[in-house]
Parts: sequence; C-alpha cells; structure tokens
Amino acid sequence: MPNTVVVGTQWGDEGKGKIVDLLTAGADLVARFQGGNNAGHTLVVSGEQTICHLIPSGILHEGKKCLIGNGVVVDPAVLLDEMDDLVGKGVSINPQRLLLSEKAHLIMPYHKALDLAREAAKGKAKLGTTGRGIGPCYEDKAGRVGVRAVDLTEPEALEEKIRNNLKEKNFYLEGYLNSEPLAFQPIFDQYLSFAEKLVPFIADVSLEIDRAIREGKNILFEGAQGTHLDIDHGTYPFVTSSNPVSGAVCAGAGVGPDKLHHIVGIVKAYTTRVGSGPFPTELEDKTGDYIQSRGAEFGATTGRRRRCGWLDLVMVCDSVRLNGLSSLAITKLDVLTGLDRLRICVAYELDGRRIESRPASLNRLARCVPVYEEMPGWQEDIAGLREFDRLPGATKNYLKRIEEVTGVPISIISVGPMRDQTIVLKDPFEN
Ligand code: GDP
Ligand code: IMO
Ligand code: MG
Repeated sequence: MPNTVVVGTQWGDEGKGKIVDLLTAGADLVARFQGGNNAGHTLVVSGEQTICHLIPSGILHEGKKCLIGNGVVVDPAVLLDEMDDLVGKGVSINPQRLLLSEKAHLIMPYHKALDLAREAAKGKAKLGTTGRGIGPCYEDKAGRVGVRAVDLTEPEALEEKIRNNLKEKNFYLEGYLNSEPLAFQPIFDQYLSFAEKLVPFIADVSLEIDRAIREGKNILFEGAQGTHLDIDHGTYPFVTSSNPVSGAVCAGAGVGPDKLHHIVGIVKAYTTRVGSGPFPTELEDKTGDYIQSRGAEFGATTGRRRRCGWLDLVMVCDSVRLNGLSSLAITKLDVLTGLDRLRICVAYELDGRRIESRPASLNRLARCVPVYEEMPGWQEDIAGLREFDRLPGATKNYLKRIEEVTGVPISIISVGPMRDQTIVLKDPFEN
C-alpha cells in the first residue's frame, strides 16, 4: 500500500492542511513528524474553518486515526485546548483515534519565556519566531535535558527534570536576558494536571505505525513548515528548529525509508513568508498587496501579515531535490486571477553568473537577482472549476511551465480553500 508524505516546498503556509484533509479520504492513519504549534494548518469543510496546530489535519474524518510522532514538540496546554475545541465542534477525540508519542518532547513555560526574551533582546535583528518556545525545546532535546511525554507518567522523574532545568533557565533568564525567573511549583502542578488528561493518549507511535503497515493500511505523513525553513537546508538562521523535509519522517515518526512511497510537495502558486529573512522575489508594491489581500495572507498562528512575491522555482527545484518529490500540489492558483502579467523566477543571477540553486551564504543570496520569465495572466474566475480541461489557456501554460522547470508532474490543483475546490489529476494513494 502506498504511504504518502506531504511537505511544504517554500516557507510554510503553502496549504498543507487543506491537502492533507483532502488526501485523508484515502488514508487510514495521519501522522505529524516534526514542528510544533508554530504550525497553523487551515481546513475548510462544509463552510466551517478549523485550524490545526498540533493535531494532524486528518482529524475531521471520523474513523481515521491521528498520530503525533516523536519528532513533534508538544505544548500540552495547546494540545488540550485543541482537543477541547474539536470536541466542541462535535469531533470525537479519544485514544482510539488520537495518540501522542511517548518520546515526543514537551514545550515547557521556560521554553516560551526564553523564545520571547531572546527575540526581544535581538530587537530589529529578531528572527520573527512564532514565540511558541519551539527553538528552546529542540535545544533541550539535543542537549539531552528535555522533558518527554513519557515523563508525564512518572511524576518523580518529571519533578527532578523540571527542578534541574529551572535552575539553569532562571539563571539565564534573569542574569542574561533581564527577564523574570519562573517558579517551580506552579509549573509542576500544571504539568501534573496535564498528565491526568493526556496519559491515556500517550503511546508508542512507531509501533502503531508498524502494526498499521503490516495490516496493509495507508499512512499519510503531514509535514509542518516548509523546506526553506529547514534548520539544515533553509535560509539559516531565519529558519525553524526542525527538519521539515521528507527525510525527517523516518526519525520523527519512527518508520523506515522503505515504507515511504509517494512524496507530495505543496507549492503555493506564488511565494509567501512570515517573519524575518531573505526573500528574493518579494513584491513590495501594488502587485504584492493585491496577492496579499486576494490570498488573505495572514498567519494562521500569529495573525501576522505574510510577505508576498512571485513564484520562485529556484526554491521549488531545491525542494524537489531535498525531498525527492514524486508530484506537486499547486495551491491558491485562484489568487492570481486578475493579474495582467505573471512572472516566474527560474534562476538567480549572482555576480553576473546564472545559478539554479540557492547559495548558503545570506550575503551572496542578498546579491542574487531573480531571473524571471514573464507570461500572460488570466481574468476568468477559476474558483468554481473542477476539471483541468476547463481552466483558461493562460492558467494551463503557467502550470505547464512549473512542470517543465521542476521536472515533476502536478497531481493536485487547488482553486479555493474548501475541500472540494480541488482538481485531482492523480491520487497519490493510487500508485
Ligand atoms: P499550511 O500551514 O500549509 O496548512 O497553510 P495555512 O493554512 O497556514 O495557509 C493557507 C491558507 O490558504 C489557509 O487560509 C487556507 O484556507 C487557504 N487556502 C488553501 N488552499 C487554497 C486555495 O487553493 N485557494 C485559496 N484562495 N485559499 C486557499
Ligand atoms: P506551517 O506549518 C510559516 C516561521 C516563523 C519564523 C521562523 C522561526 O503553518 O506552514 P519558530 O517559531 O518556528 O522558531 O519560528 O519560522 N514559521 C512558519 N512560517 N508557516 C509555519 O508553519 C511556520 N512555522 C514557523 O514565522 O520566521
Ligand atoms: Mg500555516
């Protein structure tokens, strides 16, 4: 049975949530494998909007199981709120359909405090993080002092870890960041109360996936963020602290690479970015404003206005290589309706030389000038179309050029936020 991975090919917010919700129809299990509640994945089903931050975007499909893998960093308060919100919408949430890996690291109040205090200290040079404590939590994981979900089942271990960590964090918060120290008891009490609610959901997610694979079930792996926010391959240091690339599924969900069969790269029909960092094709003009407002480009997590620009295929081609993409899902194509001319960046010019991959040095990247191809736009409203053949010729040309430059076929075209505003050319589960 083909197992499918969905990843973002740009700087996040490509529409992964919508596509995961759509593809869940053909899956039995949906698993997150990295990131945390820095993610905001929007689903619009029957006219109602749901934003998933931690719970996989398959949750609206009753009967499908959702798993939060060990590679995810989990803020228990956010997870419990999200569970409550879904229950309020009539979605059933129970350990038969939602599991949290015992090895997932927990975001603690000191992680959020450190994230916010560091950003404040950086002033103008800030990274523009989501302030959710993501970076500091992954630091503790790598530093081997993290608190894991399994610690919620052993209060003594939990107590010792929080006490030890707080000594060091408070020293740093107070002494270096001029921030308030945090008290042990309220944190410990709060996490004990989280434990009461969450322990029934804690399980070995890798074993769960293995069992499902043996039973011939289809698994969908949901990436968060995007390839160019990857800690190794992104626009470092303006990146997140995990690996959003497809290879991270193996470590972050506990599954072997031989179990992954189809990798879908989500490509927004233009480019956006929230937070700081380089953006070669950014449009700081009326066209950028047009795309921002037609695309309602505001962050699903922080509400920040997203920066907008032309489609950058240098980035997407890097993503093809880094993720081993089998197919592309093009989203938000409807947003480009009404523009006379469209531009696609197919290469960069760096110091007079044409390059087709993003340089690692941000200084060199700053000197890169996008090489554009220009093509006619279309004026027709495409949001109501469900068949490829009915798309305007100019729209088809735009899509064809994306396939030619990337060398990867398009499997899905999204023309609106709703589940059914989609043209499926090839279902990844029908490999
Ligand atoms: P994600 O983080 O990759 O899941 O993406 P977000 O949910 O943060 O942002 C994508 C936004 O675009 C959401 O508001 C979606 O409802 C919306 N969206 C998704 N696909 C389409 C589309 O094809 N057209 C339009 N107009 N909106 C879309
Ligand atoms: P989804 O899954 C867009 C960005 C932040 C910031 C940088 C580091 O919805 O696509 P962090 O809080 O992770 O330390 O912030 O990464 N960022 C995202 N941008 N979509 C996301 O997730 C993001 N998650 C993090 O804005 O620039
Ligand atoms: Mg998002």
